Amino acid sequence: MSKVMIMDHPLIQHKIGLIRKIDTGSKDFRQMISEIAMLMCYEATRDLKLQDVEITTPICTTTVKELQGKKLAIVPILRAGLGMVDGMLTMIPAAKVGHIGLYRDPETLNPVEYYCKLPADCSEREVFVVDPMLATGGSSVAAIQMLKDKGVNNIRFMCIIAAPEGLKKMQEVHPDVDVYIGAMDDHLNDHGYIVPGLGDAGDRIFGTK
Ligand code: PRP
Ligand code: URA
Repeated sequence: MSKVMIMDHPLIQHKIGLIRKIDTGSKDFRQMISEIAMLMCYEATRDLKLQDVEITTPICTTTVKELQGKKLAIVPILRAGLGMVDGMLTMIPAAKVGHIGLYRDPETLNPVEYYCKLPADCSEREVFVVDPMLATGGSSVAAIQMLKDKGVNNIRFMCIIAAPEGLKKMQEVHPDVDVYIGAMDDHLNDHGYIVPGLGDAGDRIFGTK
């Protein structure tokens, strides 16, 4: 069974409080989404494996640690996931970035696919799928399925706010995927929005409403 980690670091919790506020404008919202992603990335990469390598400093030879194992990729779910990419890349600048375009049909709430471009060697990488919101789970579950269909089997999912309904679906459909969550909210409303949530993450990042 996958790991579910709620990131209770005080800086993450403080910034999530700020982005929830209705009067936080796009510029600050975008900035804080990026900062939260950076902090979450730091926490979510704690278990990456290290290996010893011998190096020479200006003074002598010594043994240091370097990352071992698979290379990393970041895959944001468009649009709102884009807001998390810069923060992730600040922590892991060598990661490749893929993109999956999905939007939620406002009537059915089902995800509709419109774009997919991944690094050529994606199936050999450890992939972090990022999206600020896990609501019904339709979008993230579909994005992860798209990756699996292309041979990617080492996947983690990171979201800033999750609803119990979405987490349940994720665990049912993709029990192998570790999930990193900034805050676990209460429920979904009749329109599929997370309560208390923060509204429409994509619109708030890009100022489209
Ligand atoms: C939002 C959000 C997630 C999805 C979550 O995207 O960024 O991708 O909804 O909802 P779900 O768990 O019920 O699928 P949206 O469809 O609004 O598209 P956007 O990012 O382009 O605004
Ligand atoms: N997508 C969002 O952006 N916000 C929600 O609350 C649910 C889905």
